[in-house]
Amino acid sequence: MIDDLDRIEQQGRERIASAATLDELRGVEAAILGKRSELATLKKCLADLLPDERRQAGQALNAVRSRLAAALADRRHELEDRERAERFSAERLDLTELTERRRRGHLHLVTQTRDRLEDLFIGMGFTVAEGPEVETDWYNFEALNIPPAHPARGMWDTLYVEHGAEQSTLLRTHTSPVQIRVLQAQQPPIYSVMPGRVYRRDTPDASHLPVFHQIEGLVVDRGISMAHLAGTLEAFTSAYFGGSIHSRLRPSYFPFTEPSAEYDINCIICEGSGCRTCGQTGWLELGGCGMVHPNVFAAVGLDPEEWTGFAFGFGIDRLALMRHGIDDLRELFTNDVRFLEQF
Ligand code: DAH
Repeated sequence: MIDDLDRIEQQGRERIASAATLDELRGVEAAILGKRSELATLKKCLADLLPDERRQAGQALNAVRSRLAAALADRRHELEDRERAERFSAERLDLTELTERRRRGHLHLVTQTRDRLEDLFIGMGFTVAEGPEVETDWYNFEALNIPPAHPARGMWDTLYVEHGAEQSTLLRTHTSPVQIRVLQAQQPPIYSVMPGRVYRRDTPDASHLPVFHQIEGLVVDRGISMAHLAGTLEAFTSAYFGGSIHSRLRPSYFPFTEPSAEYDINCIICEGSGCRTCGQTGWLELGGCGMVHPNVFAAVGLDPEEWTGFAFGFGIDRLALMRHGIDDLRELFTNDVRFLEQF
């Protein structure tokens, strides 16, 4: 009988160890400890033994039974742990992978730049206005003190639209006509910036595009001087480029301002010491500006004796180029995702 018990325990342990699931283990438990198990049969035989033998064999049998029960419990815990771990990993939702895999787009660098410019000027107390891209000759030129056949028209290579009288309708060559629309729509004081797309009959190269973006500025109030213009542009320059970059005004000519100036900033590559980007001058040209011409006030019916103002206009695309050290304007509109996704 003792030999039988040893074999039963040995086989029982092997079956317990090889049960791979909780279901299987339940079957094993019934087979080795249940009513029809060998142990149960042996137990019935105890009755045929002499009392002394019966006690010894009974103790041995119970010991085997409880060791097998303990082995079953250990294996059950092991399998429970394993099945729980497997269920957790099957049900796991990996959200990080989801966000990494789905590539999301973002605003174009030029749009980002325009938004930043608007934010900066809003922070300085300006409002934002917009005007149409298809304009009349009057808004784009005449009201800005550029009458027909004025030699200054040569400053803008104009694209005309076939509409109305010949050359009466055009794609705006600058954002300056929005100055006129703002002056017509509201009474001074005016502190406005006007961003938007503009068009010129130009062949694309590293520094020219036939379609580009400008931001116009207009201030009209009483007692506005050139000092307000210089101070505003200097404040804008350090806000946009950082405190180490400064601005300067250089005499120039525009029909709609008098006096007129070019607005330069310290070269952001060399910070003024001279390099290839700035042609060794230490300065980069950003745009034009000046004091609003009395004829512009007259065109919208404002008294130039009462009102004074300054205006400025510069290229948004060029500004984006400078800030990020890009050397070719055309990169902005080639739409190569590898380029665009860097910004
Ligand atoms: N409209 C000019 C251009 O596109 C830039 C400009 C110069 C705008 C002087 C202004 C200004 O408002 O005052 O070349």
